[in-house]
Amino acid sequence: MALDKMEDLSLKEPLRQVEIGEVEGIPFTKRMCTTWDQVWKFKARPDDLLIATYAKAGTTWTQEIVDMIQQNGDVEKCRRATTYRRHPFLEWSTQESAAARYSGLELAEAMPSPRTIKTHLPVQLVPPSFWEQNCKIIYVARNAKDNLVSYYHFHRMNKGMPDPGTWEEFIEKFMTGKVLWGSWYDHVKGWWKAKDKHRILYLFYEDMKENPKQEIQKILKFLERDVNQEVLNKILHYTSFEIMKGNPMTNYTNEFQGIMDHSVSPFMRKGVVGDWKNHFTVAQNKKFDEDYKKKMADTSLVFRSEL
Ligand code: A3P
Repeated sequence: MALDKMEDLSLKEPLRQVEIGEVEGIPFTKRMCTTWDQVWKFKARPDDLLIATYAKAGTTWTQEIVDMIQQNGDVEKCRRATTYRRHPFLEWSTQESAAARYSGLELAEAMPSPRTIKTHLPVQLVPPSFWEQNCKIIYVARNAKDNLVSYYHFHRMNKGMPDPGTWEEFIEKFMTGKVLWGSWYDHVKGWWKAKDKHRILYLFYEDMKENPKQEIQKILKFLERDVNQEVLNKILHYTSFEIMKGNPMTNYTNEFQGIMDHSVSPFMRKGVVGDWKNHFTVAQNKKFDEDYKKKMADTSLVFRSEL
């Protein structure tokens, strides 16, 4: 299980300075903190659809499935713009790059309805208007270890994220919630509780991998949409990992140039369940599992870390 190479790779990282602040105890970039008041006052519309996830849980994949459904399987329409521009990323704002100079708020406000909006916010930080307008929300959760591994590699390739440090250090940060958007444990549990009170479809990355057709059908039902078999098969095909990896509109090579370095680790990295086994040492795994049990003792939520 040991993979010492990981630490070598992180040492080769360029130094970067992403300043971190906090909103209600949740780590955000300083830049996100400065726009937070506007995000909190965001005016959701009743027909907005929110796709909410902890970062690296399968957001982009879900966004593509939803867009394919909304466009009734029309691939060309789905290629009208990058994922980032089709679905505003509510709380994200950065001044570092011309390529990403539009904040989520700016994109959302300029967008005609019906809008699909992306967020990584923990449930307690979702702007109140989403609840007031009774918006539909799709939440996707991924098992902690694979989510952590994916987040680690994303930090390595993305200069807009803080330096992850070594693999060992990053595990610690993840376990203590000292990462952007805070604790994975609180995030998945908070949204799990909220689903009983609001219009939330709670999905799992592992289920989507195991049986994508079935999970797409759940999304169709939730969105009150219907497609014929031919369109359903098309959606399945065009939202597969291999096709999305090769699609410049979904693989993030057309956006955040100079910020994301796909030669360090591609955005579309592996797209599998169980890659954590190639990263955790036996000791790291034991420690992680013990801590996990404590943190997840107060929830009925169950994850699968392998298929
Ligand atoms: P890995 O780093 O494990 O490969 P997000 O979109 O929330 O940032 O999540 C990114 C993760 O989802 C990455 O995981 C990425 O490869 C994976 N992913 C993206 N599209 C996918 C697809 N069509 N099928 C399976 N996994 C996908």
